[in-house]
Amino acid sequence: MRTQVGIVGAGPAGLLLSHLLHIAGIRSVVLEIQSRHYVEQRIRAGVLEQGTVDLLVNCGVGARLEKEGLVHRGIELRFGGRAHRIDLSALTGGRAITVYAQQEVVKDLIQARLAAGGQVLFEVADVSVHGFAGGAPLVRFRSQGVTEELACDFIAGCDGYHGVCRQAMPAGALTLHEKDYPFGWLGILSESPPPSHELIYAHHERGFALFSMRTPSLSRLYFQCAPGENPAAWSDARIWSELRTRLGNGTTLQEGPILQKGVTGMRSFVAEPMQCGRLFLAGDAAHIVPPTGAKGLNLAVADVRTLAKALAACYADGRTDLLDRYSETCLRRVWKVQRFSWWMTSMLHRLPDEGPLRQRLQLAELDYLAGSRAASTALAENYVGLPFDD
Ligand code: FAD
Ligand code: PHB
Repeated sequence: MRTQVGIVGAGPAGLLLSHLLHIAGIRSVVLEIQSRHYVEQRIRAGVLEQGTVDLLVNCGVGARLEKEGLVHRGIELRFGGRAHRIDLSALTGGRAITVYAQQEVVKDLIQARLAAGGQVLFEVADVSVHGFAGGAPLVRFRSQGVTEELACDFIAGCDGYHGVCRQAMPAGALTLHEKDYPFGWLGILSESPPPSHELIYAHHERGFALFSMRTPSLSRLYFQCAPGENPAAWSDARIWSELRTRLGNGTTLQEGPILQKGVTGMRSFVAEPMQCGRLFLAGDAAHIVPPTGAKGLNLAVADVRTLAKALAACYADGRTDLLDRYSETCLRRVWKVQRFSWWMTSMLHRLPDEGPLRQRLQLAELDYLAGSRAASTALAENYVGLPFDD
């Protein structure tokens, strides 16, 4: 088999890259270890930045997003018995975020790739990448029991944090920056109307809670828990009681059947550079942010936007300068988004062994945020998404 760009991973990064390359007239093959059903049902992110929405719409995969996505012009912060709204749109010249589930983005992209005759191979096994340090990159994998080789000009490692591409880079080629937080999130999807029409980020002495949604009748709720917490140890009644306590302020939380329940760890991680020879990393394969800023999916989109442009310039005009600067261009955004995600996380979570001092400082920071237009603007412009670098 031969193609121009071999893409490992059919998450948002790999699928969007394949779609953008197709628009630029560049052929690609996407290899995915999971089934199509699995990736289309995997529950993850839900908040799309304005720039992510604009990109998806402009490249022709935004029809359902525009119809079904929920546009949010503000978020609420709850702390110290108060509620404060950050007016995202008023503070950013009219920008907004859109709530639209990651698996819906994935469905739209798969549909677009297959409709255009694109090759997305699901349920492949034993994927390995070779030859990227020289001029003959190759992806080896098994499909339906048969070992295959995909020769290509470039490999895009879009295979997430646990993928094989980053691991295939030689020792010493990468510097890894990593921090694990001493807490996690227990998340539920519930068949119940969300407690508010906007997201609520709640600081509470028992720990952080987040009230989000997927549709007007489907709530997505999270609360801070121990990092290795067993979700089965939390009965539905106990989950609702914890959420009610942390929401506070007399808002009624409508309880409904819990359709899904899971625990997520919290990590800040960056691998740099994001390139080794003809192998380029994008999305979670190169970096992880704690979910408090709602940035992981958006950062993956920004990476592949940059990579697709650089590959298009290379194929169309023989220019390699954009490819050479890929890592540098992406990392400028990655580090800013890491900072924002770390800051939101630090301001809103309780540390297991913290004294009252840290909590008082957090409350002072939230109070300052609520009272200062400058501080609110800094939050808002990061939350709706910084402008693309190039
Ligand atoms: P992935 O989605 O992980 O895709 C990688 C793909 O590669 C997967 O399909 C995987 O099966 C496949 N793969 C792995 N190994 C191999 C292999 N060896 N060969 C072939 N394929 C392989 N982000 C936001 O922007 N907003 C949010 O609101 C938000 N909320 C989140 C909430 C939770 C609970 C979690 C867990 C994450 C959240 N994120 C959020 C983060 C976001 O989901 C990720 O950043 C996003 O999935 C990254 O996309 P990706 O394509 O880089 O990686
Ligand atoms: C979600 O709806 O899944 C969500 C929203 C905001 C976040 C993280 C996750 O910060």
